[in-house]
Amino acid sequence: MKQNEKLTAIIGGTGLTEYSGLDIQDQKIIKTALGETSAPLIFGELMDQPVVFLARHGHPHKLPPHKVNYRANMLALQEVGVTEIIAVNAVGGITSGMDAEAICIPNQIIDYTHGREDTFFDGVYRPLDHVDFTHPYDEALSNKLHFSAEAKNILVTMGGVYAATQGPRLETAAEIRRLENDGCDVVGMTGMPEAVLARELGIPYACLALVVNKAAGKSEEAITMNDIYKSLNQGIHKVQAIIAGYLAS
Ligand code: HPA
Repeated sequence: MKQNEKLTAIIGGTGLTEYSGLDIQDQKIIKTALGETSAPLIFGELMDQPVVFLARHGHPHKLPPHKVNYRANMLALQEVGVTEIIAVNAVGGITSGMDAEAICIPNQIIDYTHGREDTFFDGVYRPLDHVDFTHPYDEALSNKLHFSAEAKNILVTMGGVYAATQGPRLETAAEIRRLENDGCDVVGMTGMPEAVLARELGIPYACLALVVNKAAGKSEEAITMNDIYKSLNQGIHKVQAIIAGYLAS
């Protein structure tokens, strides 16, 4: 890769462990100073643009959200020269309009996770430091993804608050009421610490959050993995179309 060349990473979540349409050129297992990535990094081209794909939960899907080595993942992406990251996250929908297969490009996060290695600046790997995280997602990259969606007539909600919960269990109805009172629109288990680690490394990071179920207590029915996978399989094509449109632009 030439210096200063754009290199986009796509981090795939549940339902996106393989990236169809990616013209694969190489795969690399990367061992970083902070451990191994969830899966080998896949190097390839999409719309004639170089991309790196990483399956966040491993391939096959095996790592629960709290066991993902987010620091190794992000460090490896930096080490191979990634200049921007598009994170794909399956989420539950909390507020109105956040129904199955809706897509949200969030602009804020609230972190409810605990016990995760969530910083590089821990005084061990790197000296203590404090990054600005007022606006956790990269605005320019988010806008470009929004633009691509609009150009393809794919409805997305621009802006919204992503609640990052610990998992792997889903929430109680009371927990979702609390998140709603806190101002959250969607809920997922992997948004943090990924977003802040990208910020600590100075890599622009945006999220395409695909709603795969109504959050707990927001519909009459129980949440089943069957329904989640059905929504994922249907909605993921829209997510991939947005990414393709962005890369082609
Ligand atoms: N809660 C948390 N994470 C999720 C959900 C949910 O309802 N759906 C998909 N990921």
